[in-house]
Formats: sequence, C-alpha cells, structure tokens
Amino acid sequence: MQDWLNIALPKGRLGEKAYGLLERLGCGCPQMLENNRKLIFENEATHVRCFWAKPSDVAIYVERGAADIGIVGKDILLEYEPDVYELMDLGIGKCSMMVAGLAGTQLTADKTLKVATKFPNIAARYFGGQSREIEVIKLNGSIEIAPLLKLSDVIVDIVETGATLRENNLEVLATIQPISARFIANKAGYKFHYAQIEALLQGLRAILEEKL
Ligand code: PRP
Repeated sequence: MQDWLNIALPKGRLGEKAYGLLERLGCGCPQMLENNRKLIFENEATHVRCFWAKPSDVAIYVERGAADIGIVGKDILLEYEPDVYELMDLGIGKCSMMVAGLAGTQLTADKTLKVATKFPNIAARYFGGQSREIEVIKLNGSIEIAPLLKLSDVIVDIVETGATLRENNLEVLATIQPISARFIANKAGYKFHYAQIEALLQGLRAILEEKL
C-alpha cells in the first residue's frame, strides 16, 4: 500500500492556480474548492492528502516534514530561506518584488530610508547590497498604505498587475527580482516518496511544455 503524500497549498491568489495543476495531475480533492470549514482533504485513489495554509506557513510545513511537498511563491523562499528542495519553477503566480513609493520619490542616500514591507529580509538584503541604511517597518498586509500616510518613505512588496499601485498614486522605483510559484519538497520526504514525487514532476513538466 502506497503511503499518503501530504501536500501544502497556499491560500490566496496562487491557491486556485496551484490546485488546478494538481487536479490536472489527477490528484485533486474536489471538496477543497467547496465553501466548508474542513481543513484536510484526501484523494483515496492517489493517496494524496492536501491542505490550504498561509503561503509563509507552506514553507514551515514542508521544512518540518508535516507536508512532503508544497507549492509556494519564490518570495516566501527568498524571505524565509527554508531548508527544502526547490524542485521546479511552475511558471504560475508570476509577479515581481519591487521597491515602490509616491511618484517622484528619490532613493537618495543622504538619510536612513524607512521601508515598510512584509519581507524584511528581502528588503535588508536588497538595500544592504547597495550599502544603503534602512529602517525596516514590518507590516502584515495592505503595505501600500504606509507611504500614503507617511509611515514609510517606500515599500518593498509584490506587484502583479500594478493596479494597487496605480489606484493609490504610487509607482515602481526599482525592481528587485521576478517571482513565480515553486514546487518544493521536504528533504527526507523527497527520498521517501521519490517515485510518487518524480511522477508528479514529470506530469508538471508535460503540462508546462504544453503551454509553450
Ligand atoms: C499583494 C501585494 C500587493 C498586491 C499587488 O497583496 O502585497 O498589495 O497584491 O497586486 P497588484 O499589482 O495586482 O495590484 P495581497 O492582495 O496578497 O494582500 P495584502 O495586501 O493583504 O498582502
């Protein structure tokens, strides 16, 4: 009997796309898309067990082996640097990590820059690489409000369509790096479930090639 493969999927924008890939691989758990309070879903046929988690928690579940594999944005991997295998760029959830601020904001080096962000490590590495002094203000959401109300000079955040910046008179000041969803695996889980995980990767490769 095959062992259960535990899969952590990110709640939010990326979640439905990530689930769509699993479904195409025949590993979907249809109840996951229903409006219910259930937390863990099983696909008896493929012995796959899926659950939704906050994106940053996906990395924790996978790193600690509670989930064998997961789908998570590169932003989370860059910020938390979990000790996991990053096995594939899934090419979904594409966006960019940007520095943004009020139109015309100068990134001058004559004062400590106040940076509001959900990603303090990414911000510190980026500005540290430019030998810039910053003060990080860690927020948990709606980061764009910070420069509007002068909590910060700039933000470091994900930009996908650019709508949030546009609708709040903010603009991109610098691009840090492109982001997309990654397939990650727990290091021991990868060895233990090698055949099952490799079959999933092969299926994903076929789906990605189809899209080209
Ligand atoms: C993300 C990000 C931006 C927004 C960018 O926030 O932090 O606020 O999406 O997307 P856009 O370029 O398409 O407008 P999210 O919606 O995940 O919620 P949050 O602000 O609560 O973090």
